[in-house]
Amino acid sequence: MSDPHPIGIFDSGVGGLSVLREIRARLPHENVIYCADSGFAPYGNRSTEEIRERSLFLSQFLLQHACKALVIACNTATAAAADTLRQRWPDLPIIGMEPAVKPATAATRSGVVGVLATVGTLVSARFAALLDTFGSDVDVITQPCPGLMECVERGELDTSATRALLDSYVQPLLQADADVIVLGCTHYVFLRALVQELAGPDVRLIDTGAAVAAQLERRLIAGGLLTLAQAEGTENFWISSEDPQMNATLQFLWHKKATFSLLPTPESHNASRSLMT
Ligand code: DGL
Repeated sequence: MSDPHPIGIFDSGVGGLSVLREIRARLPHENVIYCADSGFAPYGNRSTEEIRERSLFLSQFLLQHACKALVIACNTATAAAADTLRQRWPDLPIIGMEPAVKPATAATRSGVVGVLATVGTLVSARFAALLDTFGSDVDVITQPCPGLMECVERGELDTSATRALLDSYVQPLLQADADVIVLGCTHYVFLRALVQELAGPDVRLIDTGAAVAAQLERRLIAGGLLTLAQAEGTENFWISSEDPQMNATLQFLWHKKATFSLLPTPESHNASRSLMT
């Protein structure tokens, strides 16, 4: 069986490109549609209801483009909306992600793990459940990082302002003796080199992108949904922001020539759907 339909991926912005990178490495022949909700970012400061609403809208858009599976390439959106999306589309493979607390607690030698994530992720019931399950034998120090995803959205991975902001978030973890730091937001994965420099070589950094790609592959195989095409897969990029700078950020982070198309608004999307019926 061969299924050439695309995989749909969404994030609050360009952070999910760090997940797409892993998916591309593992599944080079799959076609992909990526939605960046940069016009509504950051999700980290939004209410659960708002994130759910946006996640439903983006998922509907991707399903209208005949996606065979969805990847929520965002820890914050997974915490707020994964259950809702799975209830709405029970037969669809929907891969979410959460901060890598489990492997981090297994890897620490100091007994202290640091987690960099958004406020939304850290206050979620899903994250509390993760700590209950894996955080009982080690100290897990959580650090919300307001303003950090915006640095990545602007493509500012190593400016003095980004460095100063990131340092203010990393230092408390080091002071608490963390020897493993979880990059619990897909945007922060693009700051890996800077986190490593600020934390020093003895601190191990962990993120979840490769595990998400592996899980996606397992689900596609189980559902008979892999493409058997041998050509390189295509990527289509959509965005909810009209900021022209975002195309530069896309090319900078994706390392390939690519441009965003503008996502419809929920109103125009509904109008065109009613014209079609
Ligand atoms: N990229 C998102 C995540 O993984 C969050 C960024 C935001 O606050 O919108 O959590």
